[in-house]
Amino acid sequence: MTREKVILAYSGGLDTSVAIKWLMKEYNFDVVSLIIDVGQKENLEAIKEKALRIGAVDSICIDAKLSFVKEYLFPALKANAVYEDQYPLSTALSRPLIAKLIVDMAHKKGATTVTHGCTGKGNDQVRFDVSISALAPELKIVAPAREWGLSRDEVMEYAKTNGIPVDVGIQNPYSIDQNIWGRSIECGVLEDPWIEPPEEVYEFTVSPESCPAQPTYLEIEFKQGIPEKINGEKLSPVELVEKLNQIGGANGVGRIDHIENRLVGIKSREIYECPAAQLLITAHKSLESLVLIREMLHYKKLVEEKYSELVYYGRWFSPLRKAIDAFIESTQENVTGKARLKLYKGNCSIVGRESSFSLYEHELATYDKSDTFDHKAAEGFIKLWGLDLKTYAGRFQDES
Ligand code: ARG
Repeated sequence: MTREKVILAYSGGLDTSVAIKWLMKEYNFDVVSLIIDVGQKENLEAIKEKALRIGAVDSICIDAKLSFVKEYLFPALKANAVYEDQYPLSTALSRPLIAKLIVDMAHKKGATTVTHGCTGKGNDQVRFDVSISALAPELKIVAPAREWGLSRDEVMEYAKTNGIPVDVGIQNPYSIDQNIWGRSIECGVLEDPWIEPPEEVYEFTVSPESCPAQPTYLEIEFKQGIPEKINGEKLSPVELVEKLNQIGGANGVGRIDHIENRLVGIKSREIYECPAAQLLITAHKSLESLVLIREMLHYKKLVEEKYSELVYYGRWFSPLRKAIDAFIESTQENVTGKARLKLYKGNCSIVGRESSFSLYEHELATYDKSDTFDHKAAEGFIKLWGLDLKTYAGRFQDES
């Protein structure tokens, strides 16, 4: 009798590795492991092999870096997407893409069930489940780590008794998710919000203490909201993000220590390293401030907040996200030009910006004699601007 097939989003980590065995033993499934390369810089060949060794009937790896950058990260960059003013959504943005690829694979292989290794406490289960059902409502979803009710230690124990290699140990007590937009680290000593993260948790960035003694200057050039060049050199989208990770990381830029409000109601302490995301969002915002009119900038900020929430809450495939994306896209028409950044011991500051669409008029802004601003017009403007307050004061002054 042929067993039913299930497509597993496989990372090679503890939970998804145990999930392979669990799905075979408890559910009698044939497991097809699907590894998505979103720039996690791991040995994906070895991970592919590991799935087969544990018992997967097939193990497939898809390089999705380019579509991740072009279809997810760049739209998010145009929206300056950051959750709770801190987290550039690196893990969150990868989930809808992975979900889409699992769904495609299920269709291709004729599977009616798909599965992932998320626990019942995190945001990622929500993102996977909501994305999968938005794309393919007919597919069944099984989430072993949500069902087995095992602690992390018990999962490790299960792995050991079932001959599954475990990398998590005394040396690596952390739970890590990484891709080209950043690295998320939790668990271990990080669960105490008072404790400074030990240096060992960081991999993409060096400590500010060990950064170069001299600042690094960097120019990032955008065309209609999309970054295209670094220091005048045109790079492919993936190369560009990778290069910025490297330059930012070498200058200690992109470390984030965040007490985060998860969708499921838990406050958690998350450490992130997102050098490229931080450099790009900072540069992009600085260019927008030069070319967008005030009301557009201020209104866009409100929309950006909603957009970031939608991404964080797993609603990428919602009509609202698409509609907001269309709005964001239309704001980017003139976001073409350069930002100049100074990177120094963990900081990145904007020290220059330039655009042929700049709305900065030196003759209006200047205090020297080339000033063309109509000072007299200000008087009448202010009279009317404050007229209602003056009227109000005249009416209620005695009563206050
Ligand atoms: N808290 C982040 C989010 O919900 C990252 C979770 C990543 N997982 C990890 N194993 N560190 O997007």
